[in-house]
Amino acid sequence: MDKFIIQGGKKLEGTVNVSGAKNASLALMPAVLLTSGISKLYNTPRLNDVFTMIKLLTQMGVKIEFNNEELIIDSTGIFSYEAPYELVKKMRASIYVLGPLVSRYGYAKVSLPGGCAWGPRPINLHLMALERMGASIELVQGYIIAKTRKLNGAKINFDIPSVGATGNTLMAATLAKGTTIINNAACEPEITNLANFLVNMGAKISGIGTSILEVEGVDELKPAEIETIPDRIEAGTLLVAAAITKGNIELKGANENHLYSILSKLEESGISLSINNGSIKLDARNSEIKSVNVTTSVFPGFPTDMQAQWIALMCLANGTSNVTDTIYYDRFNHVPELIRLGADIVVNENTARVVGVKKLTGAKVMSTDLRASASLVLAGLAAEGVTEVLRVYHLDRGYQRIEEKLNSLGAEIQRVQSSEY
Ligand code: EPU
Repeated sequence: MDKFIIQGGKKLEGTVNVSGAKNASLALMPAVLLTSGISKLYNTPRLNDVFTMIKLLTQMGVKIEFNNEELIIDSTGIFSYEAPYELVKKMRASIYVLGPLVSRYGYAKVSLPGGCAWGPRPINLHLMALERMGASIELVQGYIIAKTRKLNGAKINFDIPSVGATGNTLMAATLAKGTTIINNAACEPEITNLANFLVNMGAKISGIGTSILEVEGVDELKPAEIETIPDRIEAGTLLVAAAITKGNIELKGANENHLYSILSKLEESGISLSINNGSIKLDARNSEIKSVNVTTSVFPGFPTDMQAQWIALMCLANGTSNVTDTIYYDRFNHVPELIRLGADIVVNENTARVVGVKKLTGAKVMSTDLRASASLVLAGLAAEGVTEVLRVYHLDRGYQRIEEKLNSLGAEIQRVQSSEY
């Protein structure tokens, strides 16, 4: 198992490109199950969750070639409609195959995702929507078995604008008979990217980018192409890396419209930004970081996937801040580890109260999920001395060799094999 050894205290400087969005790719890839033929996804990030999705689709009979950042996907020979436990337990986004399979083939058998590192993550909304469209759903030996002769359009209301449930329902609705309305749909850019891909495939969708999506089912979809949007969470993580080290970087290939909440919070904290057409320049060389409260919410609010990284930044801010997560109440695995580096944080219910300290000091830390690991790397970059981050396989799930990007900006991070875990 790899670990990172980080020599802290290096200011980040230079230019770095943003990769394609993990959470967009994980929705775009299973959409090919809705059609037969060769589709192409551009700007796909080479990271482990994408490789897990490739495995999952391959064992269903889909043929996939990965050339640089281009995925060429041939969905002609699909012969299995099953997502096995071994893959779903590795990656919850495997649930995205459920909607397309049941809609196109009238049958899907998908392992029920269990809890995750920071608590329960139910999928009741995914199942409710499919049932409303006429699928029968049974739970047999840990597997969801969904069956239907043909899905029918339905009026669906989500109590919570779930990203995954919106994506699954949207895919399912494209081949249903009649019109589906998804009310209180997620408006995340990754869902918009998926909707645009489905439109390229011939789906009839209106309201894209809003919280009411209307889908008029069609008889069949054709293969298509799409450019994956840039990863707003990778972009935010790199910006915080520059801010926490008092660096000066230019981020290229970002979409500033997806980053509004993160960029505003960085500016509020006293960091200077200049934004121009996908290029974001951040200069924190002369900034004193001010404490800024953050409450996560659905897009365009501050993303829960940046909460851990924001807490890392606030550890070294001047003053006290409250960071509240309203999406995942228990997503604070990074806090005890940040405290090992010298941070002063108390978590009460879903709020972390962070009292800024003068410095963090390197130590061995470990984490249990992707964004928590990212926050530990950020803290390690700013800490005095050496920080070892164990279990970086969590990071590899969602960042494309982040240490190479950070090192290209002057960080000193070594990836080494380790027997510790
Ligand atoms: N929820 C329900 N019932 C459901 C579905 C969701 O109660 O059927 C609740 C969840 O428990 C949570 C909230 O709704 O409190 C939002 O969950 P959502 O369904 O939107 O999350 P998701 O689709 O499972 C995606 C991202 C996550 C990201 C969340 C929130 C992917 C593959 N994953 O998950 O990304 O945190 O949206 O924005 O798109 C990450 O990248 O680190 C990550 C965890």
